[in-house]
This record gives sequence, structure tokens and C-alpha cells, in this order.
Amino acid sequence: MFPTFSVLLFSLLFLLNLATNAAMGTELRPGFYSQSCPDAELVVRDVIKKAMTREPRSAASVMRLQFHDCFVNGCDASLLLDDTPEMIGEKLGLSNINSLRSFEVLDEAKAALEAVCPGVVSCADIVIMAARDAVVLTGGPNWEVKLGRLDSLTARIEDSDNIMPSPRANASYLIDLFSKFNLSVKDLVALSGSHSIGKGRCFSIMFRLYNQSGTGRPDPAIEPRFREKLDKLCPLNVDQNVTGDLDATPEVFDNQYFKDLASGRGFLNSDQTLYTFPQTRPYVMLFKDDQKLFFDAFVEGMIKMGDLQSGRPGEIRRNCRVVNSRLVNILLESPRNR
Ligand code: HEM
Ligand SMILES: *[C@@H]1O[C@H](CO)[C@@H](O)[C@H](O)[C@H]1NC(C)=O
Ligand SMILES: *[C@@H]1O[C@H](CO)[C@@H](O)[C@H](O)[C@H]1NC(C)=O
Ligand SMILES: *[C@@H]1O[C@H](CO)[C@@H](O)[C@H](O)[C@H]1NC(C)=O
Ligand SMILES: *[C@@H]1O[C@H](CO)[C@@H](O)[C@H](O)[C@H]1NC(C)=O
Repeated sequence: MFPTFSVLLFSLLFLLNLATNAAMGTELRPGFYSQSCPDAELVVRDVIKKAMTREPRSAASVMRLQFHDCFVNGCDASLLLDDTPEMIGEKLGLSNINSLRSFEVLDEAKAALEAVCPGVVSCADIVIMAARDAVVLTGGPNWEVKLGRLDSLTARIEDSDNIMPSPRANASYLIDLFSKFNLSVKDLVALSGSHSIGKGRCFSIMFRLYNQSGTGRPDPAIEPRFREKLDKLCPLNVDQNVTGDLDATPEVFDNQYFKDLASGRGFLNSDQTLYTFPQTRPYVMLFKDDQKLFFDAFVEGMIKMGDLQSGRPGEIRRNCRVVNSRLVNILLESPRNR
């Protein structure tokens, strides 16, 4: 490539970046793209719908990405960055590796948006829209999402490992963790209701089936017939990537999850503990008996979680897996050096 062209391209992208960085102070609001990309929400909804016809579980997998993105330096798509020679990102984090999935669905949404409004819609906003759509399309509540986020310029595996909770966590630990994000006990229980859809691995429950808290015995909170079922799914020598349903209706977003907890049929320890502990149990009872209350509390929690922001500078990534400056380097690399 001619240097003059390289310089021009660099300057152009530098200016573009300045422009996006300047948008940092912008408040999140509904309809952020109503002028700049009026069909943005329709485009994302369509991609999620298509993904679900290929594989129903992708709704759950996509929805989970909002939690794992927003808890780590705010909702900034840091989760979506692939590793580079200089950076180990969040995807290899303890809670994410061999577990998070459906990143390709967000890639598809990004590609569809770049085709209609290039450089306009952030990956961080795509995560938020996609999570809402996944809930709606599995029978859950609908809500208006606030938009206008920027994408992070970096990611670190440690930031994920320092925050994301283990499936072994108990309710008092989770209450403390969520309170650090200004999320209440009610928010914690409602947001855990996301486990109304999707699956988890044997890996996540081996300890509670065979050695709860190092006792060498199973978690006594597991209902005996359900435990037999889990023992069969996850015998001691199982391939720990084998998965089981997180509740009895894993493709429908409903309050079955809370009914399951009340009968000792929670899949994860972090689920069942919400019924065991006195601070969280009243909300489990409330949501089990009244799906509307659950839906309202869930929406409130998702909006609060979606408001988490790091305040760091950002950009509108062209590709959700790569920061733009690196994309430029890749473009400018002379072919003979590759
Ligand atoms: C309260 C603390 C939480 C803990 C400890 C936790 C932990 C987990 C674990 C261990 C799994 C199974 C992963 C595997 O075995 O590979 C899982 C799955 C899932 N989590 Fe959570 N989670 C929590 C909260 C949330 C929240 C707040 C959301 C979203 C709002 C969420 C959404 C999901 C979904 C949808 C799945 C199923 C994903 C799939 O089928 O691919 N979780 N979670
Ligand atoms: C809950 O978990 C924390 C952290 O693992 C632990 O320190 C605490 O003792 C546990 N609380 C109860 C009541 O089991
Ligand atoms: C929680 O709320 C307090 C008081 O409004 C605020 O100062 C703090 O930044 C909030 N924390 C987070 C993580 O949003
Ligand atoms: C159970 O856990 C304890 C404490 O983590 C450990 O010392 C013990 O070896 C484990 N037992 C089995 C059978 O894995
Ligand atoms: C699960 O599968 C991945 C990828 O195929 C593999 O690297 C990993 O070791 C497996 N994990 C367990 C716990 O078996």
C-alpha cells in the first residue's frame, strides 16, 4: 500500500474515533438510533429469530452474554473481543471458557447492521437488544431498551475472573456481589430467573452432587428424585461438558424456575441457595406464585444492569471481535508480511 494512502486512512480513522469518543457523555436513551439507523432494532430481532430456528437454545446463550458483559467494566462489549498476541480477553475467563456460546449470532447481527448503517450501532448496544429479543421470543416480557453505548478499546481476563460468580456461590455472597452494582436482593432473585431458559454443564454441578462444601456428600437441598436424575446425567466419570436443563421448561421464559426451586429442583447451587436462604426465599415464593410480578422485576433488573457503564473511552467497533485500530493494522499490513 502507498504510504500516503496509509496516512490518509489513519487520519480518517483517527478523526472518526475522536468523533465517537466525544459521544462518551451521552446519556443512554430509548430510540438512540431512530435517526441514524431507524431499523436497528428490527434487524437485530430478525437475526435472533433466525438463530432460534436453527437452534432454540441460542436465545438463552445470547441472553446470558448481557450479564457477563455488563458485570465486567459495564456494558461495553469487552466480552466480545477475541484474544490478540498482546491481550488475553474475557472469553478465556473461568466462567466463560467452554461455556459462553452464540457469539456468532452477534457477529451476524453486527454484519447485518453494518450493511444498512455502517459504523453506527455499537456492539454493546447489540448485546442489550439481543438479550431483550431473546426474552421476548421465548415468551417473556417485552421492554424498551436504552441505547447509545460505546464499545471498549480493551479487555482483560482478570477483570472477568475477579467478578463473575461461581455456580457454587451461596445467596449471601451473591447478595453482596449484586449490591456492589446497586442491584437489590429482589433484583438478584429476579435476574436469576433468567435461568428459566437454557442449559448448564455437569462441570458446574459435580461438586454439589458428590462433595457439597467438602463434606463428601451431596447437597441436602436437592430433592431425592431430582438428585437421582442428576446422578444419572452426571455420573462421577462423565464428560463434564454434558449439559442438563436449568429448569423443567428450558425453552420457555416463565416462572417455572421458581416453582422448581421451591421443590428442591434447582440445577445450580447458586439457584437452589436462593430458596435455602431466608433473605432471598420470600422473593422466590413471590415470583413462583405470580408470573407478572416476576416479569416486572426481571425487566427492572435488566434495565438497571444495562445502565452499568465504566466511563472509559470507547468507539463503535466495525467488527465486534476486534478493536478498530487493530483492524486498521490488519488492513495496512503488507500482504507479503503475512
Ligand atoms: C446470580 C448469579 C449467577 C450465577 C452464579 C450464574 C451461573 C451460571 C452457570 C454456572 C451457568 C451454566 C454454565 C455452564 O455450565 O456452562 C449459567 C447459565 C446461564 N445463565 Fe447464569 N448465572 C447467574 C446469573 C445470571 C444472570 C443475571 C443472567 C442473565 C440475566 C444469567 C443467564 C444465564 C443463561 C440464560 C444461562 C443458560 C445459557 C445457555 O444455555 O447457553 N445468569 N449461569
Ligand atoms: C457463603 O459463602 C461465603 C463465601 O464462599 C462463605 O464465606 C460463607 O461462610 C457462606 N455463608 C454461609 C451462611 O454458608
Ligand atoms: C451505586 O450508586 C451510588 C449512589 O448513587 C453511586 O455513587 C455508584 O457509582 C453506583 N455504583 C454503580 C456500580 O453503579
Ligand atoms: C471433597 O472436598 C474436600 C475439600 O475441598 C476435599 O478435601 C476432599 O478430598 C473431597 N472429596 C472427594 C471425594 O472429592
Ligand atoms: C469440554 O470441551 C472442551 C472443548 O472441546 C475441552 O477443551 C474441555 O477440556 C472439555 N471440558 C471438560 C470439563 O471436559
